[in-house]
Amino acid sequence: MSDERTAELAKAIDTLRDRRAVLRGAAVVGLAGVSVPLLAACGGGDEAGSTPSSTGSSSAPTSAPTSAPSSAPSSAGTPSSGGGGAVLGPASDVPVNGGMVFQDAKVVVTQPTAGQYKGFTAVCTHAGCLVRTVENNTITCPCHGSKYNATDGSVISGPAPAPLAAVPVAVDGTNIVASA
Ligand code: FES
Repeated sequence: MSDERTAELAKAIDTLRDRRAVLRGAAVVGLAGVSVPLLAACGGGDEAGSTPSSTGSSSAPTSAPTSAPSSAPSSAGTPSSGGGGAVLGPASDVPVNGGMVFQDAKVVVTQPTAGQYKGFTAVCTHAGCLVRTVENNTITCPCHGSKYNATDGSVISGPAPAPLAAVPVAVDGTNIVASA
């Protein structure tokens, strides 16, 4: 073996000794409880248990839903019958044994017997059409032919699944009003 070669080997051995010393030192430090940062610094990847340093990942949810649905139910569909009652129309428009559909208010008023007025929602319980006619104490829906009793709103026939809901009405002077 040449001197040159021997010198190279000696140098390599020294280098190995230095590395071992560094590794040994790291092990000692690790036993002292500081190993986590050192291991993390080795770039060994993200293993479970590593504590997030929180610089890169903004994990806090900042876009939390803030709101409740803003579609507050309004009074659509219900006749406005505040304090004194909304005027539906002249009582003279409501014949005995017949009735009148007040389309704006969506109320049908009947007069099964003279002087006795009854009010119901005009919205058919089948599919929501407005009922149209009242004849012989029968309220009829034009859409699919449901028929209701003009005295109590009950279903006589047709696809309607439920009676017409009552709407309290009264006579105020010459008018029919929806009372509270
Ligand atoms: Fe009235 Fe169908 S909506 S019968």
